[in-house]
Amino acid sequence: MAEPTDTTGETTPPTTVDGVLHVEPARWRRRDLYRLLTSLVVPRPIAWVSTLGPDGVANLAPHSYFMVVAADPAHVAFSSTGVKDTLTNVRATGEFVVNIVPRSLAEAMNATSIDLPAEGDEFAWAGLTAAASHVVAAPRVAAAPAHLECRLTQQLEVGDATLVIGEVVHIDVDGDVWADGGVDVTRLDPVGRLAGTAYTSLGEVFHHRRPRWDGER
Ligand SMILES: Cc1cc2nc3c(=O)[nH]c(=O)nc-3n(C[C@H](O)[C@H](O)[C@H](O)COP(=O)(O)O)c2cc1C
Repeated sequence: MAEPTDTTGETTPPTTVDGVLHVEPARWRRRDLYRLLTSLVVPRPIAWVSTLGPDGVANLAPHSYFMVVAADPAHVAFSSTGVKDTLTNVRATGEFVVNIVPRSLAEAMNATSIDLPAEGDEFAWAGLTAAASHVVAAPRVAAAPAHLECRLTQQLEVGDATLVIGEVVHIDVDGDVWADGGVDVTRLDPVGRLAGTAYTSLGEVFHHRRPRWDGER
């Protein structure tokens, strides 16, 4: 095997790598590091986050720095790079909704990533119908197949980002994506984010039974 390629001190990623690329994150430009990280941590689920501003203007924006944090009690988290309208609204109201993005809404989801001014409503911008949520005041994307209504529980400052953790206080799932006692992921048809402008939908779905130690070798 070839010797590792040491890029220490480089500010520009190499075009090709002979061997292994080693990266010292602090020495890379922020944009290049963002591209590298978001190319490696893939595919990322997308939290399409809807909020309500204190002025009553609805806001909607995708966040692919997104994860389930706990199931008991149910918590999810997303991360805002810098302070955007979504974060401002969550801080002001303590509420948000995560709308699940099916393939059929990928284009609309992308449209809502536009940097509208705070008084702009991305629902209207993307031609989406907002529906009232069940527990929180923030609206939902009516066409989305599932929604997680959340209340803010923690905010964690991490570098140039804020990790927003919310307790899921209500979940609704459209019956069209429900089969055999649970969500049929093929019917849910979720969109995943890759790097840059690239997205993916479900490919092959395969199964592995989780191993359990039975106490014997
Ligand atoms: C698929 C996708 C995923 C995104 N993920 C994030 C993210 O995780 N965090 C973030 O701060 N911005 C993310 N963005 C950018 C925001 O959606 C964008 O800055 C948006 O304008 C923020 O809207 P707001 O100011 O109304 O909150 C993403 C954009 C796209 C298209």
